[in-house]
Amino acid sequence: MAKTDSRVAIVTGASRGIGRSIAERLGADGFHMVLVARDEKRLDEVVSTIQSSGGSAETRVCDLADTKAVDALMTSILDTHGRLDVLVNNAGINRDGLILRMSDEDFDEVMNVNLKAAFVTCRAVARPMMRGRWGRIINIGSVTGLVGNAGQANYAAAKAGMVGMTKTLAKELGSKGITANVVAPGFIETDMTGALNSEILEEAAKRLPLRRLGKPDEIAHAVAFLASEGAGYVTGQVLTVDGGMVC
Ligand code: NAI
Repeated sequence: MAKTDSRVAIVTGASRGIGRSIAERLGADGFHMVLVARDEKRLDEVVSTIQSSGGSAETRVCDLADTKAVDALMTSILDTHGRLDVLVNNAGINRDGLILRMSDEDFDEVMNVNLKAAFVTCRAVARPMMRGRWGRIINIGSVTGLVGNAGQANYAAAKAGMVGMTKTLAKELGSKGITANVVAPGFIETDMTGALNSEILEEAAKRLPLRRLGKPDEIAHAVAFLASEGAGYVTGQVLTVDGGMVC
């Protein structure tokens, strides 16, 4: 029996894009998957895919902008399973605009979904992971959090905050066998980048060392590595998966 068989992994924003890929990959690796997002129908499709390849999964519908609801969700998941071994904070939104025009609401919403919800989930898993003396916290950041991007002051602040928070967790929790890392994607083909102008995207891809956009499963592979036994000595790191954009 694979060691992951009794382990429980949670992925936020698992209904599509990168989160869906991560959920399917960790499900195939033998974790019991708890899939969180707002769209129950799409989450059910991901559960079916995981089950049809022999894995197990369940769904939890939650609006991560409501951080009190996130706290309640984590309590409920822990009540059900008594443990949580892998946490992947993947859900993210953007509300882009130049700083002169960015509203307080757009700043707060991005901070709540992209950073505060991640803080609440990390806080909730810390104790059960410490009890089990094993844990993997993997936060999905962005290259924007490392180098900034015009029109994304809110998004960049949230993703940079995630890096600082994750490095802090690595230091606070390492002695208990818990690792905490960030995976920072570059341009990945999902609904999020689908909203951008395709010519601009093509031009951006041409400037990358690898000359193409990334695919969600390329992020999922990096996450699967960080969730594995083999990554037990890797903590406090930012793994950019970006075709060489930031190097
Ligand atoms: P996406 O827009 O395709 O999917 C986002 C997921 O988050 C969906 O499942 C959505 O339902 C969920 N979500 C959003 N707001 C939510 C809320 N309030 N409550 C519950 N669930 C919510 O995005 P994509 O591209 O898959 O991005 C995933 C992560 O990767 C995000 O954190 C994003 O910032 C990050 N990222 C993506 C890049 C890209 O090029 N696609 C580049 C860099 C980072």
